[in-house]
Amino acid sequence: MSASEEKKEITRDEANGLDKTLRPQTWEEYIGQAKTKENLRILLTAARERGHAAEHILLYGPPGLGKTTLANLVSKTLGTNMKITSGPAIERVGDLAAILTNLSPGDVLFIDEIHRLSKSIEEVLYPAMESGVLDIIIGKGPSARTVQLELPPFTMVAATTRISLLSSPLRSRFSGGTFRLDFYSDEEIATILKRSAILLGVKTTDEILDSIAKRCRATPRTANYLLKRCRDLAQLEGGELNNEIIDQTFNLLEIDDIGLGKPDRAVLEVIIQKFKGGPVGLNTIAAATGEEPSTIEDVIEPYLIRHGLLERTPRGRVASAEAYKHIEENLL
Ligand SMILES: Nc1ncnc2c1ncn2[C@@H]1O[C@H](COP(=O)(O)OP(=O)(O)OP(=O)(O)O)[C@@H](O)[C@H]1O
Ligand SMILES: [Mg+2]
Repeated sequence: MSASEEKKEITRDEANGLDKTLRPQTWEEYIGQAKTKENLRILLTAARERGHAAEHILLYGPPGLGKTTLANLVSKTLGTNMKITSGPAIERVGDLAAILTNLSPGDVLFIDEIHRLSKSIEEVLYPAMESGVLDIIIGKGPSARTVQLELPPFTMVAATTRISLLSSPLRSRFSGGTFRLDFYSDEEIATILKRSAILLGVKTTDEILDSIAKRCRATPRTANYLLKRCRDLAQLEGGELNNEIIDQTFNLLEIDDIGLGKPDRAVLEVIIQKFKGGPVGLNTIAAATGEEPSTIEDVIEPYLIRHGLLERTPRGRVASAEAYKHIEENLL
């Protein structure tokens, strides 16, 4: 290494910076999810024209599909600030009260992982969402009394990967709508990759991007991650992002030609090899693979189901004929 290289200025690590750089800043840059985008556009534009805070919005879907990005776009469209918190961060009623009373009129309150909110906090949230008031109990025992505070008008945007864990009273308070984000088509992923490649300064071709797109689990976050890894190897090997570099990168990361990684294949292998294709219960699969049941449910399963490799039945998970074929052809 030469002296000049050693002295190279170190800039912010991409792990932190990349998400910000690559995150779409406009609706045009936000690829796919056409129906959700259209519904939100109408909801937000109408509210803005009326001069009202928009109604509360719930976004759900597997990790990395663009929920946080969409929440950002909502607040941009409304032209207001966004305050960010998450279910596990709100531990006491006082935490929630502090957040709500500090909002400015029209602000967006983004609550990530809303399924991890405790019951007692949820109950304080109901009147806040519905009537814009906060009921606080002051004192203890016989002298305790309830004080009602009026809150500034606000729009809550909540995100979750586990809609099934939300109570129905909470769900029903998202009067602006509940939107499910879908997996992306290969073409949409390729379009996202194209923009990211330009932002990262990676020289490549549409053909190459198409072949990366097939292996991104239909997920934008995975697409950006894999593009970076291909770029890293290309850089070490002389610069060009070609087919050889891509194959090498995916081999190193043990990702197969439909984007399954080791944990994905482990789930299918356990069902096929240990349980004759199923049905097998979630906890049994978790114990046999060493993954958390929640990781299997949130991260691994949705893509396997979408790819027709796994089915969820009342008696457990079942591997499809397609899964047998894939595992047989891709024994590593
Ligand atoms: N529709 C899209 N078009 C282009 N890029 C996208 C899109 N959706 C997401 N991305 C990219 O993927 C990254 C991950 O998206 P985001 O953080 O919004 O996902 P998420 O659904 O909030 O995930 P999690 O459930 O893990 O919080 C973003 O930083 C962005 O770069
Ligand atoms: Mg998020």
